Amino acid sequence: APVQVRVQANAPGPKIDRDIFGQFAEHLGTGIYGGVWVGPDSTIPNVRGIRTDVVEALREIKVPNVRWPGGCFADEYHWREGIGPAAKRPARLNASWGSVIEPNSFGTHEFMDFVDQLGAEVFLSVNVGSGTVQEAADWMEYLTADKPTTLQQERAANGHPAPYKIKYLGLGNENWGCGGAMSNTHYVEEMKSFAHYSRNLNPSQTGENAMKRVAVGWDSGDSDYTEDVMKAWKNKVWSWDIEGISLHGYTIPNTWEKKGPSVGFGEDEYAKGIKATLKMKDWIAKQTAIMDRYDPDKKLGLYVDEWGIWVDPNPGSNPGFLQQQNTMRDAVIAALNLNLFMRNADRIRGTNIAQMVNVLQAMILTDGPKMLLTPTYHVYHMYVPFHDAKAVPVTFDAGSYTHGGVTVPRVDAVAARDTSGKLWLALVNVDANKPARFDVAFDGVNARGASGRILTATAADAHNSFENPNSVVPRPFSGRASGGQLRFELPAKSIAVVQVQ
Ligand code: AHR
Repeated sequence: APVQVRVQANAPGPKIDRDIFGQFAEHLGTGIYGGVWVGPDSTIPNVRGIRTDVVEALREIKVPNVRWPGGCFADEYHWREGIGPAAKRPARLNASWGSVIEPNSFGTHEFMDFVDQLGAEVFLSVNVGSGTVQEAADWMEYLTADKPTTLQQERAANGHPAPYKIKYLGLGNENWGCGGAMSNTHYVEEMKSFAHYSRNLNPSQTGENAMKRVAVGWDSGDSDYTEDVMKAWKNKVWSWDIEGISLHGYTIPNTWEKKGPSVGFGEDEYAKGIKATLKMKDWIAKQTAIMDRYDPDKKLGLYVDEWGIWVDPNPGSNPGFLQQQNTMRDAVIAALNLNLFMRNADRIRGTNIAQMVNVLQAMILTDGPKMLLTPTYHVYHMYVPFHDAKAVPVTFDAGSYTHGGVTVPRVDAVAARDTSGKLWLALVNVDANKPARFDVAFDGVNARGASGRILTATAADAHNSFENPNSVVPRPFSGRASGGQLRFELPAKSIAVVQVQ
């Protein structure tokens, strides 16, 4: 039966913050070294050491912000080791990820140059696990002071007299786990000091532009910082504050030990992957309910600053590098999560998919000078009109898709008005085998047509390879109008984004 969708085109919804489409780049495997940074002497085209092909591709998806330097790596990162003449920077072991050498050639200034080349904002995570409050405070002064302090002058001598802008400051990372295995109460005490002393001194960062501090919250396991962080925030008496709390939630189709393959699978792994990813809905509901109790006015944002599908590493690759292929299944997973985040945009003000290049659910894979765009990249590209758009309420009966004992909603749909007032729809047919017809009716709009793009593939594990980089790419797509309504035929496993005329 056709899916009857009703779009309340004139009802006001919350703003979909463009930071919902944020990225995460950790010093992990080839996520930075090789994937972003090749060094100024490389034969791979670069600007001051940063790959031109990767920057150009990422500019197309209008990356709003990049979270860096981790992840677990952030809680063992010492920023001073990554500034000054490259030859003098110490080589360290990256103990979190494969115990490879961390040369520190990509440090603070290189990262700032990278986000500048992207036209993106900064999400910096400070080291709470193994660093000190003073180290974090000094980093902030180094980055943001405009008065001639010694640290400001050191920054100027290193090539950047003007203060940098830091939009988000992550107060640690997974401090219940890799970030120091701290109890809730211990973390809360640490977090308060970091929140207080990590001062942003950039005079332009006041009011609307003020830096937002994001405390560590829940992960998809048992530990739950959210309650204690929110309680501390509610009862705070003086001097510290936060503007958000994080949630980490990965999609693991099977078990943590044996997560499942990234390619070479059929419908079983597809259905399990979809089912696993929809847990995000419950995680958001659970965290939102806690936050609502302490913060009914929604002053704080929920930041899903790590999410994505996490499967077994590519055979033969370093398991500490978390390299995996990216398929049509993963594109559907990306779309379902982005839709969920947009639907909760009154509380979710940002998310960062893990991770941008070569790691986990990546946008881009590289191999030496070669580069490819993944199906997930194409979803991000198709969703650009939703950046800063106004959500529009949509109702429909999703029905269900069942395979191998797994049942999930068969379809999904969201709508929004972009910054210039144009109405957009994103439609997803989750069903692995059957097409889905959507009949879309509008309140307040007489639709005359709709066109955009669709991403689909025959196989659930269809992907792009260096030999065949364009197997899964978006194609033109349109709907048929009749009597002010629209009809769309979506093939199995597909995502369509269209502008309504
Ligand atoms: O994204 C990979 C890792 O997953 C991050 O470093 C950590 O925060 C999480 O456990």
